[in-house]
Amino acid sequence: MSSRPQPTQQERVLEEDDFIVSKTDLKGLITYGNRIFIGISGYSEEELLGAPHNILRHPDMPRSVFKLLWDTLQAKREICAYVKNLAKDGSFYWVFANITPSFDRRGEVIGYYSVRRKPRAEAVKAVGALYRTMLDAERKAGDGQAGMKASQAILNRTLEEKGMGYEEFVLGL
Ligand SMILES: Cc1cc2nc3c(=O)[nH]c(=O)nc-3n(C[C@H](O)[C@H](O)[C@H](O)COP(=O)(O)O)c2cc1C
Repeated sequence: MSSRPQPTQQERVLEEDDFIVSKTDLKGLITYGNRIFIGISGYSEEELLGAPHNILRHPDMPRSVFKLLWDTLQAKREICAYVKNLAKDGSFYWVFANITPSFDRRGEVIGYYSVRRKPRAEAVKAVGALYRTMLDAERKAGDGQAGMKASQAILNRTLEEKGMGYEEFVLGL
């Protein structure tokens, strides 16, 4: 994206029965978005189709969450994650996302599919605090691998303290 929206403190909140659906190709380029996705993101269908899914990337999101997302998808597994997204007008909206690989008949991954719904307010509070700590650590340690490691270490420590794996933690929030 050449010009990214300037983030504001304005929040967009999903309705209880809103389901945001999108599909991407193997590179994360958007190949489908449902009406709800178009409505909440603020982009037109023309703007979304063919755009990288990181068009929604909010600067408050730690990079290591997306690394975990892509590592999991590339291992042909599904992942659930809380994501703070950036709309075209700079407002933000939290989602609870389930992202899965799509397979062809031979079991080859042909793209990715995501369904996102409104997260519980308490979960957003907990995840927001965790992500802030992770982002802080990333920024302090710098842009490269060091930042990524520092942020991953915080997530891993949180999971260790709770005695849970990532999936159990996220689904239990
Ligand atoms: C199906 C699918 C859905 C995705 N949904 C989102 C999303 O809602 N918000 C987001 O920031 N990234 C989403 N991503 C991840 C982005 O592709 C990207 O990795 C992320 O925005 C971070 O940007 P970066 O990889 O350029 O650092 C999704 C990826 C896939 C494959």
